[in-house]
Amino acid sequence: MTSLMDSIGMTETNDLRQKIVAAFLTEPDKNISGTELSRKTGVSRTAVWKHIKALEGLGFRFESTPRIGHRIVHVPDLLLPGIIQPHVPPGQNIGQRVIWYREVDSTNLQAVKWVQEGVPHGTVVTAMIQTGGKGRRGRVWFSPETGLWFSVVFRAPIPVRQAADLTLLTSVAVRRAVIRHTALPIKIKWPNDLLIHDKKVCGILAEIRADGENLDYAIVGVGMNSNIPRDDFPPELSDLATSLLAESGQPVSHVALATDIFAEMDALFTALIHDGRGFESVVEEWRSASATLGRRVRVLSPQGTIEGVATDIDATGVLYVRKDSGTTVPIHSGDVLF
Ligand code: BTN
Repeated sequence: MTSLMDSIGMTETNDLRQKIVAAFLTEPDKNISGTELSRKTGVSRTAVWKHIKALEGLGFRFESTPRIGHRIVHVPDLLLPGIIQPHVPPGQNIGQRVIWYREVDSTNLQAVKWVQEGVPHGTVVTAMIQTGGKGRRGRVWFSPETGLWFSVVFRAPIPVRQAADLTLLTSVAVRRAVIRHTALPIKIKWPNDLLIHDKKVCGILAEIRADGENLDYAIVGVGMNSNIPRDDFPPELSDLATSLLAESGQPVSHVALATDIFAEMDALFTALIHDGRGFESVVEEWRSASATLGRRVRVLSPQGTIEGVATDIDATGVLYVRKDSGTTVPIHSGDVLF
């Protein structure tokens, strides 16, 4: 455990800061004395003071009154465990544990390492900035600090045949939360890209490990272009990608949006594993939100490039394309171009 913690900076210091944040957020209007914080964290008052200064560096603001204590007056919009946890009810797994980085290569890569350290089902690994964000098909995922980047660890017994349902349920969860927070017309492009006005606003990357009938684990990474100003996209993405901010003119709260996505994902996952029938309606919601059906498409698939009209998507997520010759072909995986 120590080696991974050291290499990525999840040290005891970080845990202490989370304890301090938690102490303030449990009673947000209360003044807490240095002595009380020192008792709650088990470190000296001088050490507490240093941590408070470090938290200010992350955007927290405290009002400090001599002999009375400190009161929190501003909480930054960061997915820090101490900020997220009050929003996660006890019975919900997703988001119950959060591992946060200011900057990391890829949250999916780090999540795999944390799985090897034994983190529980539902752990979320998140970062403000990814320096090597991974997209599908080996592409790089543009990940500046104005976006929302996280990976969810699934470790419950999931049959391999349900692996694709994890990305499906994630796209439905993200879409529901985005509609609730922005009312934007967000659609799902097969298999699991989220589009607004035909431009990509969110991508999902699932990485699984299986050795038998059930998955050992799955990591589902969500890349949401939330508050990225339109002009910040690199030229090669400007025609293809958009952000919630660019579409609505309003920034979204990362904490509010992410905790809503976690709650939706948790509920949909429960429906998937405990009640397969309840999941049919989720598949139906996914199909009816499709930006792909009925359109002329070019699909880059392992079978080669297939052109035609997307006529159907079945309950297992297979896309059917009617070619100009009249033959309809089932496509199990690939990238759709309109
Ligand atoms: C795609 O190509 O559409 C998938 C993009 C997935 C990006 C997210 S950002 C969080 C997580 N960490 C990564 O490195 N990738 C995923």
